[in-house]
Amino acid sequence: MSDGAAAHASELVAVAAERRWAWIVGAIIAVIVVMMVITGLHWASMPPSRVETVDAKTLHLRGEFVESNLGTTLAPDGKVTVRVVAQQYSFVPQCLVVPEGMPVTFRATATDVIHGFVVGTTNANTMVVPGFVATFTTTFNKSGEHLMPCHEYCGTGHEAMWARVQVLPRDEFLARARSGERLSCVAR
Ligand code: CUA
Repeated sequence: MSDGAAAHASELVAVAAERRWAWIVGAIIAVIVVMMVITGLHWASMPPSRVETVDAKTLHLRGEFVESNLGTTLAPDGKVTVRVVAQQYSFVPQCLVVPEGMPVTFRATATDVIHGFVVGTTNANTMVVPGFVATFTTTFNKSGEHLMPCHEYCGTGHEAMWARVQVLPRDEFLARARSGERLSCVAR
């Protein structure tokens, strides 16, 4: 075989390999698009449509996230709400109280950079972004204490940023919440 013929043959091999990979990549993209369509239609998993914003610069001065309004409340209609602020490098309050076996709605925001938290090994897990209110509702099925670490890298103190969460038996929680005060387990 001449040099020219050999070069031509290797070019054909290269072109065939490229075409093969183009099909594989195309197939992967098609599978991902089909998955997105199926999950979107079947489980209605959509990007969040109702985005709540909040002014991070005046959090401490007025509105829902002033310090005296943070912690856990039991509304007269039985709804439990936990309000948390994340900042470099702590959560306020540092210790949260929630009931066992009742839906609990978290509302959280950040003062400075993006943080996040997860409560122990439960599914209570969110990012916390300055300027936005992160909100989700979950139920804790077992009483006990959890660590709640920050799970978004937020600076040099990130690994030291966590809170504690006490899941109280329902009756104990209700007895403590009856006063109408905001609950937390921060030592006074
Ligand atoms: Cu806050 Cu990492």
